[in-house]
Amino acid sequence: MNSRLILALSLLIAALYGSVLWFGLSGPHLATWWTQPTAPAGTMPWHAPATESIPTDAQGELIREGRRIFIATPQFAADHARSLVSCSDCHMGEGIRPYAAPMVGLPAIFPTYNKRAGRVISLSERIQECFVRSENGTPLDPQGREMHALLAYIDWLSTPQPTRRKFIGRGLVNLPVLTPNPARGQRLYAFQCAGCHGTTGAGYTPQFPPLWGPDAFNDGAGMNQIPKMAAFIQHNMPQNRPGTLNAQDAWDLADYIHSQPHPAFNPAYQHY
Ligand code: HEC
Ligand code: HEC
Repeated sequence: MNSRLILALSLLIAALYGSVLWFGLSGPHLATWWTQPTAPAGTMPWHAPATESIPTDAQGELIREGRRIFIATPQFAADHARSLVSCSDCHMGEGIRPYAAPMVGLPAIFPTYNKRAGRVISLSERIQECFVRSENGTPLDPQGREMHALLAYIDWLSTPQPTRRKFIGRGLVNLPVLTPNPARGQRLYAFQCAGCHGTTGAGYTPQFPPLWGPDAFNDGAGMNQIPKMAAFIQHNMPQNRPGTLNAQDAWDLADYIHSQPHPAFNPAYQHY
């Protein structure tokens, strides 16, 4: 290499190194780096609590049981779930995924007004709603162990994290209201969804949940409302490539899935 080029390169490297050092030492973040080992309140993102941090006492056992019911509902709440769908199949990431209707923070929000019920309902009544609709099942004993376990799990997920930013992402994303095209939805389904949820919509349980047919959510479920299903799908599916569908794709898919057969909601549970 020619010596003038080597000299020029060394000068460049020295200049870069010097400026990094200068900005670094005089910049605000490096100056406070040594003096503030813990982050100031509200600066770090909310993070999911580690399951190892569940206490080992009786309350901890209740939390663990709630988590088991939440992630494998047909197995651990078999008497109350007729579908083969777990809470965490819709409330993804074990109930913490933003915009997949997460559970984080709900104990501070409930009791709250519920449009479907037309009155103020408690968190346990909201859980019953999902049992009789999304799980196509029957309500839990409101004072029973399973309900207490689910509430304990949701409380534990919602433990305040004073040094961190507040959790965001309640509910589902807001999509524009579009006119769906179910024929296009059917084509998209075959290419983008059938690999995991099956051409018959029955899924491959327990890994891939059903979307229609006898083992799916019933026709009274929130997921069976086209706008809600579209919002869920647009932000969260396909599970291996979320964010790749646009709003029109999601409306078309939701309309197609909605048009397939679902178990009938039992009107005896209309008050939920
Ligand atoms: C088939 C999908 C599905 C399943 C399974 C399901 N849910 Fe839901 N759940 C929903 C939808 C959709 C909503 C409404 C989200 C919205 O409108 O923001 C919801 C709402 C909720 C809410 C209120 C959330 C809020 O922000 O107010 C709670 C609590 C809840 N579900 C608990 C459960 C529990 C516990 C289970 C398991 C026993 C369960 N759900 C199973 C789809 C489901
Ligand atoms: C790579 C596999 C995969 C693909 C592809 C996929 N999903 Fe899913 N889907 C899942 C899994 C797994 C869940 C459960 C949530 C979780 O564990 O992440 C799920 C959950 C769902 C749910 C809520 C649960 C239920 O049973 O009602 C809906 C609705 C859904 N998917 C729709 C779709 C649609 C529409 C497509 C195509 C655009 C799609 N999925 C593509 C794997 C997949």
